[in-house]
Amino acid sequence: MNPHQYSAEEIKAIYRVIRERRDMRHFHPQPLADGQLARFIAAAHQAPSVGFMQPWRFIRISDSALRQQIHSHVDAERMLTAEAVGERSDEFMQLKLEGILSCAEVLVVALVDQRESYVLGRRTMPEMDLASAACAIQNMWLAARAEGIGLGWVSLFEPSALRQLCKMPADSQPIAILCIGHVDEFYPAPMLETTGWDTRRANIVYENCWGSDGGVKA
Ligand SMILES: Cc1cc2nc3c(=O)[nH]c(=O)nc-3n(C[C@H](O)[C@H](O)[C@H](O)COP(=O)(O)O)c2cc1C
Repeated sequence: MNPHQYSAEEIKAIYRVIRERRDMRHFHPQPLADGQLARFIAAAHQAPSVGFMQPWRFIRISDSALRQQIHSHVDAERMLTAEAVGERSDEFMQLKLEGILSCAEVLVVALVDQRESYVLGRRTMPEMDLASAACAIQNMWLAARAEGIGLGWVSLFEPSALRQLCKMPADSQPIAILCIGHVDEFYPAPMLETTGWDTRRANIVYENCWGSDGGVKA
């Protein structure tokens, strides 16, 4: 018996929340309970980060006019993406890809400004700041799911436009619009799977060298 391991029930709960976390796009606007958003943000802030950089910043969008503007921008970007996906454009337009107007809370997540001063672990791979912030969002995602709250990560936006809308420094980098809130039910599988957009890959592990079936699907 490993003395450091959690109880069997706790281990089960961890795997359960990992399995049942979903990217959510359907919400109802009932507010979160007192302290819930703060807990989710605290969970995010416990994430690992390159050089302990903690590059994440969260902007809570409480102004409804600003929320509306963000939604309009995302919708415009959705149209541009539809053109970019080419022959699957009609199928793409059927997908619901955000719940900005119906969720209880909207957070913009951004990488902090002046990131070039952080070198530890980033000299050859500056994008490790983004990897760190993604860990923070995943923490929040799991904490929210465990509390029965849905979260959707929206990346359909032009960073410079979002930067402008939220009055962010020029060298900061918005990476996510998070929609957070109550849901009627969690999708049993990724929505992009249920709608036939894509499937979960079966083989993701190679041994010793790169395998032959790892290419991005056209
Ligand atoms: C970096 C990142 C960006 C994403 N951007 C969007 C998005 O703009 N709109 C959307 O509907 N889903 C977005 N998603 C959610 C993915 O579509 C979703 O994670 C994937 O389909 C698997 O579904 P699941 O999260 O429910 O397991 C994003 C996820 C990640 C990790």
